[in-house]
Amino acid sequence: MNIKINEKVFWIGKVDNRKVPFHRLILEKGTTYNSYLLMTDKPTVIDTVDIAFGKEYVDNLKELINPEDIEYIVINHVEPDHAGALPALAARAKKAKIVATGLGSQLLKDMFKLHHREFIVVKDGDTLDIGGKTLKFFETPYLHTEETMITYSIEDKALFPCDIFSTHIAAEELFNDLAKGEYLEDFKVYYQLIMSPHRPYVRAMLEKLKGLEIDMIAPSHGYILRQAPGSFIELYDEMSKTSDNTRQKSVTIVFSTMTGNTTKIAQRLAKGLEETGVKTSVFNLKNADVTEVAEVIRESDGVLVGSSTKYADMVGKVEELLKALQGSGDTKKPAAAFGSYGWSGEAIIHIEDYLAKAGYRVINQNYLVGAIGVDEQLFPLRVKFDREEGLNTAEKAGKVFGELMN
Ligand SMILES: Cc1cc2nc3c(=O)[nH]c(=O)nc-3n(C[C@H](O)[C@H](O)[C@H](O)COP(=O)(O)O)c2cc1C
Ligand SMILES: [Fe+2]
Ligand SMILES: [Fe+2]
Repeated sequence: MNIKINEKVFWIGKVDNRKVPFHRLILEKGTTYNSYLLMTDKPTVIDTVDIAFGKEYVDNLKELINPEDIEYIVINHVEPDHAGALPALAARAKKAKIVATGLGSQLLKDMFKLHHREFIVVKDGDTLDIGGKTLKFFETPYLHTEETMITYSIEDKALFPCDIFSTHIAAEELFNDLAKGEYLEDFKVYYQLIMSPHRPYVRAMLEKLKGLEIDMIAPSHGYILRQAPGSFIELYDEMSKTSDNTRQKSVTIVFSTMTGNTTKIAQRLAKGLEETGVKTSVFNLKNADVTEVAEVIRESDGVLVGSSTKYADMVGKVEELLKALQGSGDTKKPAAAFGSYGWSGEAIIHIEDYLAKAGYRVINQNYLVGAIGVDEQLFPLRVKFDREEGLNTAEKAGKVFGELMN
């Protein structure tokens, strides 16, 4: 089944009526994997379908085009519900160049053993002439994973945003104006599940779309939105505003140090946090009253507690502060541990234990991977002495913590 959706643009996807297991959920209403063929002078495929349907996908595509004639395969997002049929397609589309972001290209090469293939790495704002149409690319990190981008066809005024603006529904009718049932709730549920953990990135993506003329949004799951496409962008705008958008979030950083290395970490954490617009207060416990600091922590939206390690333990007044925070009712507030160390850094473990016992939502690697797919050891933040690479990580960690606040 191939369906013409615009001048020289065809839907070549797959409707999946199964109850699809995905991200530890069951997609009760199924889904679609929307793939598109632009039949220009340099025929171009945008995204593919799920890895389970590779052969069927290529066989179906052959009804429209000899795969050997395909010049470009654009991969907006590497997750195998979209890039999964790339190996099957690339095997037939022998001369096709694969178009992806820098990180996307690396991941595709490794995942599908495509090191021998020619890739075109695109950056934000780059364009590609496909012989009769022009594609423009916008990097949209974390929507849904870090390497992701959006493709925009200038002549079609059509946006191909992959996971963004998608709906998990086996949309047989394909177009939203033909939808037989209600789908707006499903569209919103999809946003909540897949996009809302990356709210600041949704805001950045919406900024990039400003000024683009958009007649059609052709995402990779569910309906193609050709009726009132602007209303779906407005919905994302509304849903990505926080309930108390106007109130600036605040984070308290508090620490003890022996020789000042942990101070440097605190400063770099603060720098990263401030980049995200979060109000940041920093306390060296040596010069502060523990009760007063505990009070400030109670009033802030998140807390970072740091200590270097001395004989496998915390230093200064950090333990006294952590004891004061027990039973404070600060449950589920994001909190994380940091510190400089020499060879083992036990203080950081003790801080995490105290934070967890007090009921905080401890931000650590498991949390970051599970909630937002960050593939880097940021928290607990352990910096060997005051090594520059560790301090750079501190700045990045501050930024990620700040984004969790917003
Ligand atoms: C007396 C003393 C004891 C230390 N004990 C440990 C230890 O048990 N484990 C460890 O990883 N580092 C240990 N270190 C190394 C410090 O944690 C490291 O020098 C750290 O960078 C100090 O950070 P600060 O300047 O923030 O206090 C020790 C250092 C000193 C001076
Ligand atoms: Fe995805
Ligand atoms: Fe997807």
